[in-house]
Amino acid sequence: MKNIALIGFMGTGKTAVGQRLAKKLEWSFIETDLLIEQKAGKTIPEIFQQDGEISFRETEIGVIKDIIERKDVVIACGGGAVLNKINIDRLREHGIIIYLTASPETVLKRVSSGGNQRPLLDVDNPAQTIRELMEFREPFYQRAADITVDTSKLDINAVAEQIINRLKENESFDF
Ligand code: S3P
Repeated sequence: MKNIALIGFMGTGKTAVGQRLAKKLEWSFIETDLLIEQKAGKTIPEIFQQDGEISFRETEIGVIKDIIERKDVVIACGGGAVLNKINIDRLREHGIIIYLTASPETVLKRVSSGGNQRPLLDVDNPAQTIRELMEFREPFYQRAADITVDTSKLDINAVAEQIINRLKENESFDF
């Protein structure tokens, strides 16, 4: 069974790149955040506000557990999914994990456009929070990653192409 999971900080392009990648491979595309919202029947900011982050993380674990039973799916994971090792173990067991990176400045620029859908960055000083959270999470992302791709100078198509080329080089991944 094989899938492709995209991990990385908020604003690293997991959704945009994942959609493009799925299209190129003619695979399905799934976003864990969307499934969490559907399961909870409310938006992510509402889940954080009404139920708390722990409840959000529990739903995230359940959603990832369900998705990995599928095949030929590009999965865009929420930025914090790596914090629970069980998610990484499951994603790895059923596929390959691609880590998308971007500089804190790029992330700030990307998440600042288009309203705040990210409760963790709904703070007085998002630039500082991004730097701190990124630093804390970096080892989690690195430990989980099979392949790492920088998206700072993001050309969605080029990133998707780069991922496909790297997958072709990867012996454990058989197209
Ligand atoms: C989160 C990232 C978000 C979403 C939630 C928590 C995180 O997803 O899951 O707001 O902890 O980094 P994106 O990475 O798709 O923005």
